[in-house]
Amino acid sequence: MRFLPVLSPPLSPPPADRQDAACPAPAAALDPDGDVTASPDAGFVPREKRVYFEVFGCQMNKLDAELMTAVLLEEGYRFTPEVRDAGVVLYNTCAVREQAENRVFSKLGALKPLKRRRPGMVIGVLGCSAQNHREAIFERFPHVGIVCGTGEFLRLPELIARARTEGPVAALDLDFEHTPRFTRTRSFGPSPQQAYVSVMRGCDQACTFCVVPRTRGKEVSRPVREIVDECRALVDSGVVEITLLGQTVNSYGKRLAKGRVIGLQHVLHELNKIPGLQRIRFITSHPRFMTSELIDAMAGLEKVCEYLHLPVQSGSDAVLRRMLRTYTVDRYRRVVEECREKVRGLALATDVIVGFCGETDAEFQETVKLMEEVRFHGAFVFRYSERAGTRAAAEQADDVPDEVKRERNQVLLRLQSRVSTEILRERVGGVEEILVEGPSKLDPSRLTGRNRANQIIVFPGRADEGLAGNLIPVRITEATSLVLVGERVPA
Ligand code: SAM
Ligand code: F3S
Repeated sequence: MRFLPVLSPPLSPPPADRQDAACPAPAAALDPDGDVTASPDAGFVPREKRVYFEVFGCQMNKLDAELMTAVLLEEGYRFTPEVRDAGVVLYNTCAVREQAENRVFSKLGALKPLKRRRPGMVIGVLGCSAQNHREAIFERFPHVGIVCGTGEFLRLPELIARARTEGPVAALDLDFEHTPRFTRTRSFGPSPQQAYVSVMRGCDQACTFCVVPRTRGKEVSRPVREIVDECRALVDSGVVEITLLGQTVNSYGKRLAKGRVIGLQHVLHELNKIPGLQRIRFITSHPRFMTSELIDAMAGLEKVCEYLHLPVQSGSDAVLRRMLRTYTVDRYRRVVEECREKVRGLALATDVIVGFCGETDAEFQETVKLMEEVRFHGAFVFRYSERAGTRAAAEQADDVPDEVKRERNQVLLRLQSRVSTEILRERVGGVEEILVEGPSKLDPSRLTGRNRANQIIVFPGRADEGLAGNLIPVRITEATSLVLVGERVPA
């Protein structure tokens, strides 16, 4: 059975910023030792309805957290920034690297004494680690009440109620084709002008290092109509920039219609027609699925930004083979060439893993060479972290010493910092169209925003000018390794 719950606006604003941190609650007069919190937005909220929510990991996790926030708000739950004030403590977890997982496990351990003092408190482990470790979490942390995987989080209110009355509950079904879908009518994300929209879930690739296919299951694409309807509703609520999300977003459309090829380009064409929508992005693309049709759509549709996140992972064919990435370095180069030829001013970002099983110095140098040659606008560099349940963990030795991984990581970070600064400097003197995001966190006399290439620009302005969500021209006067600095010019 499928249903499409459509959200009405909540009574209070959702948590504003969940980036690896506790969600701030709506302004509230907290009474941590009492059972009721007085909140200007939520009225009097009993402790059992107060949620402390921490979110770890990728954008997909943040979007899942947004949808969880929405179902909880609908059921009368409200958010608190204090664990000791909460009746429900939730962690939306990341399993991609060991470090992220260990952070959550140590937080769970630290909650034991509080749970002993407050047996009514419900602790939930949600998302990728929950899916990965399943019921074993209850064995290691018997004070946990909910283990809920990536396919069942819309059931959270029911699971919280059951954990209170029946004891520990697990919800780990991954059958997305038959699980409920969720269509939003407004964004619950950190900014009212920007929204993330999932076009697909899961991943059909089998990269040997990656735990995601295990934690998120097989690829299932949402129908084009459903995505377009959600985007329209978001735009009606004030959103001007939409980023489409998928683990391999550019393989979108598989198995959607028998006998017809549907690709991400079809979604882009439809979204490009929505009045009021200003910018469209999509992340993350896989080199294997970067078709000419998609590149042409990027080049031809004015709302699609010139930004592409295309993880390469390594510059060595031998390493790519061991990773089962299904492309060669040469194929990657050709894809980049076609994208740069057709999409003028393209900003290219990538992911790289250093120290993968058996990576020799010579193989690492091939990555250095590729990065020097391609000159990415940005690169996320990761030290390989062995993950239980992956093919690499079962079949290949994690044999590159930690200090070598660290050293290689530093080499690539230095290289990228130099290249990014050089690329940013090329923009000095030009006028850019900036989507204003809001006041700078470091300097309230300045505003920040992004250009179409996803680069951050800081420029003079005040929050009370009400510019957030507007596109304005800014002249670039200076570049650092991280941001551009600019001055406003008349529109
Ligand atoms: N779907 C994306 C793609 O097409 O490659 C990547 C998803 S993954 C969550 C994000 C990034 O984490 C990957 O691109 C990879 O660089 C990194 N990553 C994944 N597994 C890793 C591991 N075991 N150790 C280190 N980095 C890893
Ligand atoms: Fe992971 Fe590879 Fe999919 S990196 S998310 S298995 S494309």
